[in-house]
Amino acid sequence: MARLSQSHRRQQGLLANCAQVMRIFRRHRRPRQGRITSAACIGASERCSASMRCQAISEPAMPSIRYARPSDAKALAALAEETFRDTFGSVNAVEDMNLHCRASYGEAVQLAEISNAAMITLLCEEGGNLTAFAQLRWSGAPGCVSAKSPGEIQRLYVAKRWHGKGVAHDLMAACIGEMERRESDVAWLGVWERNPRAMAFYRKFGFVEVGDHVFPLGTDPQRDIIMARSVAHRYPGA
Ligand SMILES: CC(C)(COP(=O)(O)OP(=O)(O)OC[C@H]1O[C@@H](n2cnc3c(N)ncnc32)[C@H](O)[C@@H]1OP(=O)(O)O)[C@@H](O)C(=O)NCCC(=O)NCCS
Repeated sequence: MARLSQSHRRQQGLLANCAQVMRIFRRHRRPRQGRITSAACIGASERCSASMRCQAISEPAMPSIRYARPSDAKALAALAEETFRDTFGSVNAVEDMNLHCRASYGEAVQLAEISNAAMITLLCEEGGNLTAFAQLRWSGAPGCVSAKSPGEIQRLYVAKRWHGKGVAHDLMAACIGEMERRESDVAWLGVWERNPRAMAFYRKFGFVEVGDHVFPLGTDPQRDIIMARSVAHRYPGA
């Protein structure tokens, strides 16, 4: 019963989010070469089929965003490890990467995350393949984040071939929609100090540096920059 009512609440939220994402797109989308130009609709296949508005502006090739299901755990684990290794593998020790990946990725680990009520996992899918994912969690925040009800973007990873094509933009818009739905006032995240592309991307969405913390990659204590933004504000550059 608890799962059923949670699922119902999520559906309600999704329909609201769908309209919200559409508004963000109409207002802020800057088409550019090679970039996907149609709007992503969260869960277009199962959640928004009743909404002609969503269908009318979706294109067949556009990756759709939906909530992860338990049956996605294996594919999510594979994508999460692939994108993590693609991003950080060349600039870190193999042993540290392996330690981190063994502890963080695997069907059972991602199944537990998908089932965790204090987390939301969003998947981006195109042609039956996962192309990107984001995970949000609500479990407190570091002291440098000033908020009444903070929400964390714990992970946001896009497969390499989809970088620069708007997928990350869609996913971030969906993340902010989820933060609004959960009535979080501030969204925050940690990003490695040696990840300039991700930081540039977050800045486009209005995130600013508010502090730092240590992220242990295997045996290597690394410095993550903490970035945060008000959930309510709209940023024309995003
Ligand atoms: C971070 C990520 C989600 C961003 O998605 P994306 O599609 O690449 O983002 P965009 O192309 O819209 O924006 C990236 C911006 O960084 C800029 N950029 C690219 N390389 C850069 C660099 N080395 N230094 C600074 N800025 C850089 C781009 O020009 C772009 O800005 P612009 O739109 O003004 O031109 C994606 O790159 C990704 O999944 N990376 C690997 C995983 C990762 O790092 N996740 C974040 C972990 S905290």
